[in-house]
Amino acid sequence: MKVRKAVIPAAGLGTRMLPATKTVPKEMLPLVDKPVIQYIIEEAVASGIEDILIVTNRAKSAMDDYFDYTPELEDRLIRSEKFAELESVRRTADMANIFYVRQKETLGLGHAVNRARRFVGDEPFAVLLGDDVMMSQKPVIGQLIEAAEKHGASAVGTQLVSPDAISRYSSLKVTPIEGRVMRVHDMNEKPRPAEKFSDYAILGRYVLTSEIFGILDNTPPGHGGEVQLTDGMRKLCAVSPMIAVDFEGRRYDTGNLKGFLEATIDFALEYGDGVGEWLTDFIAEKARLLAGK
Ligand code: G1P
Repeated sequence: MKVRKAVIPAAGLGTRMLPATKTVPKEMLPLVDKPVIQYIIEEAVASGIEDILIVTNRAKSAMDDYFDYTPELEDRLIRSEKFAELESVRRTADMANIFYVRQKETLGLGHAVNRARRFVGDEPFAVLLGDDVMMSQKPVIGQLIEAAEKHGASAVGTQLVSPDAISRYSSLKVTPIEGRVMRVHDMNEKPRPAEKFSDYAILGRYVLTSEIFGILDNTPPGHGGEVQLTDGMRKLCAVSPMIAVDFEGRRYDTGNLKGFLEATIDFALEYGDGVGEWLTDFIAEKARLLAGK
């Protein structure tokens, strides 16, 4: 099993980030100096992925433009000898082979992933959700690929979330295998408290086999009236091995404002130029003010 391809579903409407996302795709909002989607692509590339398909929609052409060349801008940067800036804009266009397909109707994550069938063929492939950004030493999708290849299984990325939070995710029924790897027996999408299997949530990273496509063809709309990837995967894990990897790293849901702000702060701390020191002093000052009240 060798994973060479990745699919990034990025066709959501961004309704949790309005009005910013009225004309700017949520994947194009900047976390410090790069748009969200670039972090996702960099994670895939750092994990050995060569070909990437972005599932997009008609309001998101800013994304394809971003990964293209910009001759006029580049000429200007060359003439003014801004070589570091030139390198940064060229790199986004040369990072990977990026392909696009549109999801013509917003019918759910399972439907979006099913749009990747022609691109994927019959190989195993990675899925990285377009608004789940990871901060980790070792790329999270790379952790999953390594475990999937070792165990000859499909894989999902998981972490424990709080009991009140699990209803926002897919909840996993798992038993331990070794270290951070568990066997997946079942899962359900956005369970009510009494329905959850555990507080292990699927967090935006998957390695799937191409069997998923035939399954998704026959998966009716589920939670929210949408075709859920979770519903397809629960059938997949019943017919072929699937593991969950309790990955190392921190995950941010940049598709909602709170997650986006948290990610911005964490990535800003990495930025340098005294930002970390400034932020530490700033927060200490705010804390003093609050304590004085
Ligand atoms: C999606 C998936 C869900 C998963 C979550 C976090 O939900 O449907 O199973 O747990 O992403 O990765 P959404 O955030 O689109 O509601």
